[in-house]
Amino acid sequence: MDAADLEQDLVNVLFTEKQIQDRVGELARDIEVDYSGKDLLMVGILRGAVMVMADMARSFSRHVEMDWMAVSSYGSGTKSSGVVRILKDLDTDISGRHVVIVDEIIDTGLTLSWLTSNLGSRSPASVEICTLLRKPEALQMPIEVKYVGWDIPNEFVVGYGLDYREKYRNLRDIGTLAPHVYS
Ligand code: PRP
Repeated sequence: MDAADLEQDLVNVLFTEKQIQDRVGELARDIEVDYSGKDLLMVGILRGAVMVMADMARSFSRHVEMDWMAVSSYGSGTKSSGVVRILKDLDTDISGRHVVIVDEIIDTGLTLSWLTSNLGSRSPASVEICTLLRKPEALQMPIEVKYVGWDIPNEFVVGYGLDYREKYRNLRDIGTLAPHVYS
C-alpha cells in the first residue's frame, strides 16, 4: 500500500497538505508575535499533535522549547468522558513559564479543559491553547482557545495526526473516510 492508496480511502478532503502547511505557518506567526521577547514552552498532546507540533516548531524563526504529555480518557468509544488520566507527564517544571498547549483537534473540549486546569495549577506564567481543528457543534463546555486553525462540522476526520483505529495518522491531507473503510 502506498500513499496514493491511503488517499483513496478519503471520501472528502477537507484540507490539503498545502492548506494545512499555510495555516500552521500563520498560527506560528501569530504565536511568535504574541510571545515576542518571552520564553515559550510548547506542550504537545500525544499522539495526534505530533504532526502539527513538528510543522509549527519548524515554522518558527525563534527558539522554542517542546515538551509532551500523553493522556487517556476513561470511558468508551470515540467520545471523551472528561475524566482524564495522565499516561506521560511533562519533563519540564512549568512554574513561571509561558505555556502553549498544542493539539490537533478539540471535539467535546473535555480533554483540553481538564489539561488547561491541570497545567494552570502548576503556577505557570500563562497557559493558552492552540488547536488545528475545533468542532463547535460537539463542544460540551465553554473553553477558551486562543489559536484555532479551522472550525469544522461535527464529522469524524482523519489524517495529519488524526486516526481511525490507529491508522491514517500519516495522511498528508485531512478528510472524511469512505464508508467502505468502516464496513
Ligand atoms: C484527541 C485529541 C484531543 C482529544 C480531543 O486525542 O488529540 O486530545 O481527542 O477530544 P475531546 O475534545 O472530546 O476531549 P485522542 O484521545 O484521539 O488521542 P490521540 O491523540 O492519541 O489520537
